Amino acid sequence: MSSKKPVVKNSIEEATAPSHLDRELRPSRWEDYIGQKSVKENLNILIRAASERGVPPEHVLFYGPPGLGKTTLAHLVAKETGRNLKITSGPAIERVGDLASILTNLAAGDILFIDEIHRLNKTIEEVLYPAMESGVLDIIIGKGPSARTIQLELPAFTLLAATTRVAMISSPLRSRFSGGVFRLDFYTEDEIEEILRRSARIIGVDMEKGAEKEIAKRSRFTPRTANYFLKRARDFAQVEGGKLDAETVMKSLKLLGIDDKGLSPSDRQLLLVMADKFGGGPVGLGTLAAALSEEEATIEEFNEPYLLQLGLIERTTRGRALTAHAYEHLGKTPPKNLQKKLL
Ligand code: ADE
Repeated sequence: MSSKKPVVKNSIEEATAPSHLDRELRPSRWEDYIGQKSVKENLNILIRAASERGVPPEHVLFYGPPGLGKTTLAHLVAKETGRNLKITSGPAIERVGDLASILTNLAAGDILFIDEIHRLNKTIEEVLYPAMESGVLDIIIGKGPSARTIQLELPAFTLLAATTRVAMISSPLRSRFSGGVFRLDFYTEDEIEEILRRSARIIGVDMEKGAEKEIAKRSRFTPRTANYFLKRARDFAQVEGGKLDAETVMKSLKLLGIDDKGLSPSDRQLLLVMADKFGGGPVGLGTLAAALSEEEATIEEFNEPYLLQLGLIERTTRGRALTAHAYEHLGKTPPKNLQKKLL
């Protein structure tokens, strides 16, 4: 896939793409960042050790499904270390010159955050290697036999990068994140409830007891989705002149097509197509994407992680397959080979 090709997204993912409200709700202090305990502890050690030695922290890669707080962590690392944060993304760096310009404009100690780093093309990625490893930029001047390389010394910087597709990160690139490669996990329901209470305070809504539980149950264990649902339930309560209670949450999310497990219409469509067109699978990603008229990337990054987490699908060497629980959720009778798994 070329780096310029836009990734088509489906409705809930589109609706929960980062927005200005996201920034308003984003924790700006380390102590307000809920969950991801192990990542936070590791980052703290990395940051403190570097600061005691008087050097910038080493390069770090965050990976995991969208909306779990990768960008927020980058902001917090910058704040904690008192350094400038420069933000860009894989698709925004189209040419080697774009990266060269970003790197040569860094000041000593700056933190560069590259989001969606899996979408950097190979040639650009290769320019990044010596920059990360030895702090130099190799620039080729001219073409053919007269071409020559000049080397520019870069200021010492820290690269923080994020990806939703860690399998697309080549091993040479991965190995250059000498500070660590950290996976962000889905949040627990308790953590999401805590995040929702904090968000409700910030946007100034009175959330009745029990409302946060109903949102958390349907939030894909993802803060960004939870906050999006909170805002939609708040709108619903406002327009209907009611309280923001458990019942309002259920009504507003039903209106958005979110079911009691938090599945979106596109998740259910995926399960239905697997059941009805492919006998429950296994089915390959490409075939499934074509049957759904959906981008492979969207299925892999958005739908699959949550369906796997809920145990509704499994990944096998021959493709994706429905589990007995998926049939149960769809109200369908599972094929004979799966029936015993429900007993
Ligand atoms: N908003 C988004 N992610 C969050 C987190 N981990 N903690 C608190 N608020 C958040």
